[in-house]
Amino acid sequence: MKTFHTVAELRTALKSERLQDKRIAFVPTMGNLHEGHMDLVRRARQEGDVVVSSIFVNPMQFSANEDLERYPRTLKEDQHLLESNGCDYLFAPTALEMYPDGKRSQTQIEVTGLSDILCGATRPGHFVGVATVVTKLFNIVMPDCAIFGNKDYQQLKVIEDMVRDLSSNVEVIGVDIARAESGLALSSRNGYLTEAERNTATTIYQTLLWAKQQILEGHVSYADICEQAQQKLEAVGFKRDYFEIRAQHDLLTPSEKETRLVILVAAYLGKARLIDNLTVDLP
Ligand code: PAF
Repeated sequence: MKTFHTVAELRTALKSERLQDKRIAFVPTMGNLHEGHMDLVRRARQEGDVVVSSIFVNPMQFSANEDLERYPRTLKEDQHLLESNGCDYLFAPTALEMYPDGKRSQTQIEVTGLSDILCGATRPGHFVGVATVVTKLFNIVMPDCAIFGNKDYQQLKVIEDMVRDLSSNVEVIGVDIARAESGLALSSRNGYLTEAERNTATTIYQTLLWAKQQILEGHVSYADICEQAQQKLEAVGFKRDYFEIRAQHDLLTPSEKETRLVILVAAYLGKARLIDNLTVDLP
């Protein structure tokens, strides 16, 4: 695997691949990679002739009070994992390579509406930062397809809508959530949890399964289900952010006829803010 830190070097390498008509599959990440990321890389290996990954802790998607400084940076371990899972090129730029001031660009991409709800309500500006950096990365890598995890369900929707709206020539592919045996969704932020909190964190998945069962059994008040779910999480020590049942296609409150639902949760535990989701397809 070759690692490049500049746009120019990566472009030169990918140009020669493109001239040979190779299909480029891209996995953008912020590093501190785990098995969930490796699922994305393995999927990219199936989808493309050439696999490119990026590691960039994007300052533009963190607000001032968030964990930008302490976000784990583990480049050596990440390079090893990527290489052993079939990645061909790693793009690991500095913040100055990506942004004139190392922090943000003057030009911003916003998927309006979708960016302001759920995680966007708690993290103002977050999805503008994500959409902008993903646009830049797409312009740099020019991939045929890009692979994202379904764990960041709202992020995936933002990127799908952005690609549609901007007529980008990139196929966006979502991959199932990777979970520990306990059910806990794999996340770089799980590293912020103590051993005891890691056990408690499994309640998120149990509560999602409970809520899904309530929906499947025909309990019609989604507001009640969500409130009870919040109370279950609070009872074991979580602080609430949101627990919502939404329509899969637009993440808005579903009509009574909606059959394709997604249950989304974000909650604080100790130093971590954890997110997870579960889809429900009604007959
Ligand atoms: O999901 C992530 O790791 C990041 O939000 C992404 C898509 C790499 C953009 O910085």
